[in-house]
Amino acid sequence: ASTLGAAAAQSGRYFGTAIAAGRLGDSAYTTIANREFNMVTPENEMKIDATEPNRNQFNFTQGDRVYNWAVQNGKRVRGHTLAWHGQQPGWMQSLSGSDLRSAMINHINGVMAHYKGKIYSWDVVNEAYADSGGGRRDSNLQRTGNDWIEVAFRTARAADPAAKLCYNDYNIENWTWAKTQGVYNMVKDFKSRGVPIDCVGFQSHFNSGSAYNSNFRTTLQSFAALGVDVQITELDVQGASATTYANITNDCLAVPRCNGMTVWGVRDSDSWRSGDTPLLFDGNGNKKPAYTSVLNALNAA
Ligand code: G3I
Repeated sequence: ASTLGAAAAQSGRYFGTAIAAGRLGDSAYTTIANREFNMVTPENEMKIDATEPNRNQFNFTQGDRVYNWAVQNGKRVRGHTLAWHGQQPGWMQSLSGSDLRSAMINHINGVMAHYKGKIYSWDVVNEAYADSGGGRRDSNLQRTGNDWIEVAFRTARAADPAAKLCYNDYNIENWTWAKTQGVYNMVKDFKSRGVPIDCVGFQSHFNSGSAYNSNFRTTLQSFAALGVDVQITELDVQGASATTYANITNDCLAVPRCNGMTVWGVRDSDSWRSGDTPLLFDGNGNKKPAYTSVLNALNAA
């Protein structure tokens, strides 16, 4: 196959990208995005500050722009993200305790109702673990009680039973890291107690050199063995080594429950870390060596 989406589809997988509503008027951008990818994650447009800027006043203008572009072009959508310490609107940042807990539940219900039946998978909870030590990240949500994550997942399941429900985080790709083990133990606990969780998203924001580790495959296999799908959700690699991109692709392809990959932007110039030139297309929209290595890996599967 000659595009990433079609090549991934040969093994029943998807290949996606983050899409920014503000770039949908750029035809060079939309031409590449439409040609290469068959899954879309709104980069910012379905986050809490975008969808509920004032308490209980929901706004889906930007989210719907990305959603409609995706569906009109035959793509599915990953929702991102419902409960997170980041990009909270001011009103939510100032809440605590049971008031914040109620607001979180109301937010999940409000956003999921709007997109009910339309989303392939939701990143229900994002980045809830601390960067070191293997425990939870301190946040206003965490201070509402340790059960906030399972409450978010139970709320989400009831709000849209058709959507797959994911936990999404970064720096959980290396099996030897405490953060990876912390998330693994949470998923294991959820599966043992029947807390609804369907997938784990590995953001995969890699630096050049040592950050990508060959044991990523072990991590994907270990989580999949708990009975969840695993997805690479925000992939970018500092410097975009073709070898590293091929290795990551092959790690996903080696795990039957790794059912899709998403890169976090189209061209380097679209990236949240554009100075790292971490993506598959350069600023002029040309395919980089990493593009070819990913395509070849997908076609060899
Ligand atoms: O839209 C406003 C614009 O009106 C304003 O003038 C400008 C001034 O700074 O800001 C613009 O908003 C920015 C927004 O991106 C849209 O470009 C925000 O400042 C900026 O903080 C925001 O950054 C996003 C970041 O999440 C914030 O948390 C990135 O685009 C987005 O790629 C990044 O994505 C996250 C994932 O959601 C979670 N995992 C990590 C990943 C990378 O940080």
